[in-house]
Amino acid sequence: MKLRKIKDTAVLIVFLAAMIWASCGRSEENDEKQIYIGVACYDQKDTFLGELMESFKDECSRLEDKGYDISLTIMDAANSQRTQDDQVQEMISNGCDILCVNLADRTDPSEIIDAAREKNIPIIFFNREPVEEDLMQWDKLYYVGAPAKQSGQMQGELAADLIKENPSIDRNNDGKIQYVILEGELGHQDAIIRTESVAESMKENGVELEKLSYQTANWNRAQAQNRMTQLIGQYKNSIELVIANNDAMALGAMDAYEKLGITESNYPVFLGIDGTDEGLEAVQQSKLAATVYNDKEGQANAMAQLAFAVVTGQGIEDIKFENQKYIYLPYQKVTPDNVDSFINDQE
Ligand code: GAL
Ligand code: CA
Repeated sequence: MKLRKIKDTAVLIVFLAAMIWASCGRSEENDEKQIYIGVACYDQKDTFLGELMESFKDECSRLEDKGYDISLTIMDAANSQRTQDDQVQEMISNGCDILCVNLADRTDPSEIIDAAREKNIPIIFFNREPVEEDLMQWDKLYYVGAPAKQSGQMQGELAADLIKENPSIDRNNDGKIQYVILEGELGHQDAIIRTESVAESMKENGVELEKLSYQTANWNRAQAQNRMTQLIGQYKNSIELVIANNDAMALGAMDAYEKLGITESNYPVFLGIDGTDEGLEAVQQSKLAATVYNDKEGQANAMAQLAFAVVTGQGIEDIKFENQKYIYLPYQKVTPDNVDSFINDQE
């Protein structure tokens, strides 16, 4: 009971803060032109998600140039679908016009869909893709994300290029690349598809592979360090390549080598995906060999434009959907040669 009260108060504060924030930028004539966007985030401690949310806030304030006040509430489910179901319910009760939902459990959106549908509130799912069957339940459901297969393909091409240019990556000179893979959350579309397509792509590009092992580290740097420490214990310096499903885990793997005091000449090659601030910095310093840019600015922009169009009915015809409800922003390869342009782009 007490907990619930604290939570309600917290929600109220967030809501009031959003209203105050919104009213600060308000111009006199358009008092009624308000859009209230409710965002449900699976876990704001996730590095990429945290950065995506920052971009989304920027995009929403930019939307105000269109003469609307945008108020935004962002709630964090700390990885629990039940918490998220409650949070969505609260935002609906608070009168949100549209929901942006980053599902805690991508296979379980039904409560949220039912609650929103009852009040005719559209939903833009993002980053954690519901299965098609769920998205097809109602015409006011959308998805904004990135084509997972492309990220794995690009990561595989980057690995193959590196191996061709630097034959010494094959340290034991057996013509094969001994590698380990650090995977994101079980059941996440990006983890499953990236893992599959990176190996395919390396093979297609002529790399002889030997997979030593894989570990799940839930997109998380500290978990990756932990798993990598175990892998190093097991495979010693026979690991020639570490493929991580995201940058945070690639950095965690590097932390493991550093912590164990292994000499750099015995480090494997590390590859990530995302191009987070830390990831780009590591590419710039040539610690991370390369990464694949997960276009958070593009995704945030698409979400904001779509939210605006769906609520106001303005400009919806200009939005390019796949299959009427999907928007996928392409990935890009990042190497030490072009990393600066990604860092500058963000400023
Ligand atoms: C992926 C991203 C990961 C993690 C995950 C969360 O697209 O690459 O770093 O943020 O989304 O759903
Ligand atoms: Ca080898």
